[in-house]
Amino acid sequence: MAEAPISVARTLARNAGKLIRGAAGQRRLVERKSAVDLVTEIDRAAEDIIVSGLRSAFPDHDIVAEESSPRRAAGSRPCWYVDPLDGTTNFVHGLPHCAVSLAMAETDGLIATAVVFDPFKDELFEAVRGQGAILNGERVRVSSTETLDEALFVTGFPYDRRQHATFYLKYFETFMRRCRDLRRFGSASLDLCYVAMGRFDGFWEWNLKPWDTAAGWLIVEEANGRVSDFDGATYDPWSPRILATNGRVHAEALAVLAELPARDE
Ligand code: 2AM
Ligand code: CA
Repeated sequence: MAEAPISVARTLARNAGKLIRGAAGQRRLVERKSAVDLVTEIDRAAEDIIVSGLRSAFPDHDIVAEESSPRRAAGSRPCWYVDPLDGTTNFVHGLPHCAVSLAMAETDGLIATAVVFDPFKDELFEAVRGQGAILNGERVRVSSTETLDEALFVTGFPYDRRQHATFYLKYFETFMRRCRDLRRFGSASLDLCYVAMGRFDGFWEWNLKPWDTAAGWLIVEEANGRVSDFDGATYDPWSPRILATNGRVHAEALAVLAELPARDE
């Protein structure tokens, strides 16, 4: 019998994670995709491990992978979203906070299987649709925080932050005034998993891509959280806006977002 997608994803995420962990602290060549968007040979080597493993396990599936095939697939076959190293800037600076993120979408576009692995904390988050969210073998759930006033939120500053700094800071300022506190950790997949297991109560960000968010999206939903666009619409992983919360503070966070400009004029 063919191996289940979740088991293949777990193995490949751990293998790529071992490579990342083993390479930590070494000097390495950093290329710039843009002034602030970095890639290293470790991103590429980790992606090779994952893509070749997926091709041999599921030859008839599509693969959308950040470094080698960052394009939308046709949608007629199950599709894997692969981020071999989410948190590259942390990795380059020797900060031990990054992850391997893998998700498989069915042809209806919904994510069926998700794994996010942090090789530094040895934390493996996973979900299969309908079966709950799991961290290292134990079920996890979102926090029970009821109000933004008591909430710890996390966000990220997108790759076009130099051009639109004032716009993104307006979002930061507005949530800063309403939440207990804010964090900026630099790995969107882990930000989402931390919402799923209650370390954070919510997360918003602009301009992420499906390889950053697809796995965390399912993990938050399976942990009883909520993920949407900034207007409350169903999340589309190709949308530039994501709001993920414990569900209880979602309406209040949407009301805050509704006060903010929708684009940088
Ligand atoms: P990365 O490390 O895989 O590039 C930081 O807030 C988050 O933004 C990280 O998850 C980071 O992922 C992501 N990110 C950085 N540059 C990006 C880009 N050009 N497109 C999409 N996501 C990006
Ligand atoms: Ca990446």
